[in-house]
Amino acid sequence: MAAELILAFMEFIDRRAGMPLQRLADQVLTRCRELTGAEAGTIFVLGKSGRRRELVPMSFQNDVIQLRAQSYHVAIDSASIASWVAQNAKPVFVDDLYQLSLELPYRFNRTFDLQNGYRSQSMLAFPLISYEGEVIGVVQLINRRTGDQSRVEVFSERELGLIAPVNAIIGTALDRAAMIERITRQNRELRERNRLLRQQRLQIAGLQDQTEDAFMTSVRLLAKAAELNDADTGNHILRVDEYAFALARRVGMASDFCDEIHYSAALHDVGKMSVNSAILKKPGRLTDEERLEMERHTTYGREILVRSARLKMAAEIAHGHHEKWDGAGYPQGLAGTAIPIAARIVTVGDVYDALRSPRAYKPGFGHLEACDIMLKGDARIDPASHFDPELLRIFENCHPEFDRIYTTLVDGLPEMAGMAAGNGD
Ligand SMILES: [Fe+2]
Repeated sequence: MAAELILAFMEFIDRRAGMPLQRLADQVLTRCRELTGAEAGTIFVLGKSGRRRELVPMSFQNDVIQLRAQSYHVAIDSASIASWVAQNAKPVFVDDLYQLSLELPYRFNRTFDLQNGYRSQSMLAFPLISYEGEVIGVVQLINRRTGDQSRVEVFSERELGLIAPVNAIIGTALDRAAMIERITRQNRELRERNRLLRQQRLQIAGLQDQTEDAFMTSVRLLAKAAELNDADTGNHILRVDEYAFALARRVGMASDFCDEIHYSAALHDVGKMSVNSAILKKPGRLTDEERLEMERHTTYGREILVRSARLKMAAEIAHGHHEKWDGAGYPQGLAGTAIPIAARIVTVGDVYDALRSPRAYKPGFGHLEACDIMLKGDARIDPASHFDPELLRIFENCHPEFDRIYTTLVDGLPEMAGMAAGNGD
């Protein structure tokens, strides 16, 4: 009979293998009480509060009185029966808790009974032992009643034997619960770490935006600084940015290239800040020596810009925007595709803008007249030797866009005034 009951109990437990620990403890306690006839019982598990070990009630049942949620914990080093069982890993059988011999090493705490009007009498308390042989909790069963409900019977080894499998089951369940708790905690920590990472990525993106804004402001200020030395002011540098951007898109350059030339073109004459202002502002014809110094603004510009990786294209433009397709330009006399494409693009916009802008020695030409000179040439400009023929062909197809840029950013607009540098002298 006992063996059958044990087997039935093991099956009962086995079917509940995946159950959360709390519910499992409740059902195990109910089953233990059914098997032994106990009218009340508690399952404690061993926990820690700081450095102090204590027994925490996981399931608490009593058929006689209404129970409120139990929050009391039993210190492991107290004189209670449960803590003695936990410390000694041995069961305790008590026939009457109120008649405990003073010679015993544990005491019965009557507080619960007094507060609830209950009378605890017989008790079976036994330790829960894990697979590793460690005490992980205590089960306490109170007041065995079987036949005559008015009489409290005592617990014996037989009852203990009936419910022996509880150890293995609760042990496994506790291990599993601890593992689930650990995984849940780790998942929570991972989620928190991911949240922080996302937050940091947003902050970095914000900082990158700020850095980008600061970079663009620096580029504008650098371009503006160059014009302080120059005789011709206006929106020239802004227009050259726009011509270059428009032409680069028409050529079909990649969007990164177009974005880069959109701010780099403005720096084409930045080297002028290193040229003597007396030469830059000289109204009359330059001597050969002065012209050579003037032409050096290309090399000076490269020297200023080449230090920054972000300004590599700007350095190429500053260095190469006075080179000519036939190799007759300066400073290196590069020809054809040896001239960087960004510089070839800027040359078209720079010359067009110089033709449109009024100078001390000439009036500003109208759009069609400027186009005529760009495409057919005049005394100063030979288009075939000056420009990349492919770029010139594209210019011929999109020149109204150049006119729109010039008229939109024409010199004298209040918000633009004073932002430009001189043109391609
Ligand atoms: Fe120039």
